[in-house]
Amino acid sequence: MLGNYGTVYFEMDIIEEVDDIIGNEEQKERLEDFFRALDNYERFAERLKNTKLAPNLTMLLFGPPGTGKTSLTRAFAQKYKIPVCVVESNRLVSSLLGDTIRNIRQVIETAADIAEGNGNFILFFDEIDAIGSERSNVHEVGEIKRAVIAFLQTIDIVNYKGLPLATSLEQKC
Ligand SMILES: Nc1ncnc2c1ncn2[C@@H]1O[C@H](COP(=O)(O)OP(=O)(O)O)[C@@H](O)[C@H]1O
Ligand SMILES: [Mg+2]
Repeated sequence: MLGNYGTVYFEMDIIEEVDDIIGNEEQKERLEDFFRALDNYERFAERLKNTKLAPNLTMLLFGPPGTGKTSLTRAFAQKYKIPVCVVESNRLVSSLLGDTIRNIRQVIETAADIAEGNGNFILFFDEIDAIGSERSNVHEVGEIKRAVIAFLQTIDIVNYKGLPLATSLEQKC
């Protein structure tokens, strides 16, 4: 569904459960809050309407490989019955000038289309450091720097404008 960039997992595709992931108690609490808010997005947005705040829609998980970041996200997606699109971030990186940024925008736009058709879902950029760390792949003319900025701007749009995402992106890009 996300083309060559990644895979969408629905509730029935995910076998891991939150209790299968050992430790990470604090992270579990935060993810629980995050998913609960997403599950009740409309209600939270309505309550925050007069405060100029929007419900938080993004979260950064960081840490050493193999500590449960991807598994925990999948487990919560299963628990809350919210599909999760796992983007393999290294596939966004291109050696052609401008293509990395185009790929980032394309994946977000595709995701916005899917959201319109299917409702809430998680867009999970796995191994996002791929965008910042593959400097040797491009002629260093600021391409990677621009790609990182484009990515952060996209995250800002999601955070500050909220949903629907597609309209916000159209204005920005
Ligand atoms: N805290 C944990 N408890 C149980 N299994 C774990 C834990 N952390 C990692 N694993 C297992 O190790 C593998 C890799 O974990 P993963 O979630 O992909 O790590 P990360 O995304 O942090 O690199 C998975 O099969 C996962 O089930
Ligand atoms: Mg991972």
